[in-house]
This record gives sequence, C-alpha cells and structure tokens, in this order.
Amino acid sequence: MSSPKSDALPRPAPLSAARRMDATPAAIAEGASLIRAGGLVAFPTETVYGLGADAGNDRAVARLFAAKGRPRFNPLIVHVADRAAAARLVEINAIACALVEKFWPGPLTLVLPRLPTAPFSLLACAGLDTVAVRVPAHPVAQALLAAAGCPIAAPSANRSGALSPTTADHVARSLGDAVDLILDGGACPVGLESTVVDLSGTRPALLRPGGLDLAEIETITGALDSVAEDPAAPRSPGQLARHYAPGKPIRLDATTAAADEALIAFGQEVPAGAAMTVNLSASGDLTEAAANLFAHLHTADAAPVAGIAVMAIPERGLGRAINDRLRRAAESVTERP
Ligand code: TXA
Ligand code: MG
Repeated sequence: MSSPKSDALPRPAPLSAARRMDATPAAIAEGASLIRAGGLVAFPTETVYGLGADAGNDRAVARLFAAKGRPRFNPLIVHVADRAAAARLVEINAIACALVEKFWPGPLTLVLPRLPTAPFSLLACAGLDTVAVRVPAHPVAQALLAAAGCPIAAPSANRSGALSPTTADHVARSLGDAVDLILDGGACPVGLESTVVDLSGTRPALLRPGGLDLAEIETITGALDSVAEDPAAPRSPGQLARHYAPGKPIRLDATTAAADEALIAFGQEVPAGAAMTVNLSASGDLTEAAANLFAHLHTADAAPVAGIAVMAIPERGLGRAINDRLRRAAESVTERP
C-alpha cells in the first residue's frame, strides 16, 4: 500500500505567507478580495473547512490543486450563494428543484448538467459537462460568497490523503502557508462532508454519503443508485468513463507533428508541421499548463483534424496530475467502439 505522502505533490510557492484571522466582517471582506484576485482562502462551512478559489479563474483553480497536492484533477464542488446563482451555472431539473427546496442551504451537493454559457473554469469541473454545486448554510461561507460575488470552487481544506479539517487548526497544520488566508469560524457543526447526489444521468445516484439522512433524500428521488465516488469510474458497465475525454485519438509524448494533427505543445521548442498548435505554457510553467489543459483539449478536439498530439509534460508537481488526465483521455478514446 502506498502512503498518501508518497503521492503528494511538492508545495507551490504561496502568494503570501499564510495568515489566520477570526472571521470578522473585515476579515471576510479581505478574504473576498483575495479570492477575486486569484488567491486561496480557507473558510468554514457547516460540513468541513473548504479551500476556496474563484471558480471562474483557471489559474487560481490550478494553484488550488497544487496547494492540496492532489495527484489527480478531480472535479471540485462549486459553492454559490443561493439557488439563483446556481441556476446561472447548471440546469436545475425537476428533481433538483425539489431537493434544493428542502435541503439548501445545507450539506447537499448536486451534480447537474453545466450550462454551456456558464462563466466557469473547465479545470474546476475537470473538463466535464457536469458541475457539482452546493449552497452552504454556514454564515461565514454565506458572507464570503456574498462579498466575493462569484462562485467559489472549494474542496476540503486538507492536503490530499489527509483527513478533512473541521477546525482552523486542522487547516493550518495540513496546508500551512500554501493558503493565503484562513478564516477562523470555529468548529464545523456537521463535521462530515456533504452528501453528493448525481442528477445528471438517467437515474439519480448517490456518489458520496455525507451529512444528510439518505431516507429523507430518497423520499424525493426514490431509491438512489449507489456508485463509486471516483468520478473517473463508469456509472455502470458498458457506459463511457465519466471523465472528460476528447473524441479524437491522442498521441502522447509527441516530438513531431503531422499535417492532420492538432498539437498541444509545452515549452519553447515546438515541432513544426501541425495543422494547428496551442501551447499549454511556452515558458514551461506547470501551473499555467494546468490552467490551460482542458480549454486546449477542447480547442484541439473541435479543430478539423484527425488526431491530437501532445508533447511530453514533466512528471513533477502539477505535471503528474496533467499526465494522469492525458493518459486517461488517451486510453478512453481507444476503448470506444
Ligand atoms: O462538504 C463538502 O462537500 C466540502 C465542503 C468544503 O463543501 N467539500 C468537499 O469537496 O468535500 P471535495 O473536493 O473534497 O469533494 C468533492 C466530491 C468528490 O467526491 C468529487 O469526486 C465529487 O464531489 N464531484 C465533484 N464534481 C463532480 C462531478 N462533476 N461529477 C461527479 N462527481 C463530482
Ligand atoms: Mg476531500
């Protein structure tokens, strides 16, 4: 068994030294400006502490993955102030309406189809056409969302593989100065992560049990399918993997490019000859590369080409998560009939 530590990524350089403040209105206002400026702010919700970034800012979301040391780009929960804000990001279908009525604000996360017009980081939803949304009930989370005026992507505020934090101390110990500000709002009242229900498929499915009574949810949804939490796992045999994958063949570690290929480049030395070229980061910056990854995959997939060639990405820091995603994207195309 590999220890979580061996999977952890090196810590990124912080924007500034971590600070911890009691969640007063002034501290919350500062947290909101940091979020709008692309910073990372840990804040209490009723379930666990979240590590928040502007959900519309790919670069801030890339920093968030680096701070957590997640070796994979799992999709994140997007926190919004209210149902109206959610309706600007996702399609709220009839079952979602009934659940929202009963459980929001609160520890219920709904996976719903993403609106194509949503001003939203593709990295935050790992390139998927669904988004996990939740309206937290905690007054500090609510005040932060109101002051920031944007949806906030927030996974639990711990290093990957560590326990979810329910106090500001836990956050400080786990993430230290990888965070720009920790808003201390005391202990989280629920102490368990939100229940995640996927309403984007043909049948409602439970992706993660959490702080809500399932029987209560099932009075609205009917019996829930139970599926693995891993969003990369197919919902049922025979279904396509639920992670984003372009429809075109992907060739990894490319050192050349053909005239019928789109080239996703990295760094300064880019082979000539592709039908089109996009560069993840000309300067070789892995945070920038992560921020561009899904947008460039979508662009390459939409181009009139036969395949996509991707140059090698260094297997360090965020590069590991980028390579993980590229390998799975390359595999799922060949799995298709
Ligand atoms: O209580 C909570 O939910 C906390 C607080 C901060 O809100 N957040 C949290 O986030 O636990 P995180 O990133 O640790 O867990 C998000 C869960 C993961 O299991 C992820 O796979 C799933 O939600 N998820 C997010 N977006 C998804 C999507 N589009 N499709 C399927 N699953 C998704
Ligand atoms: Mg977590």
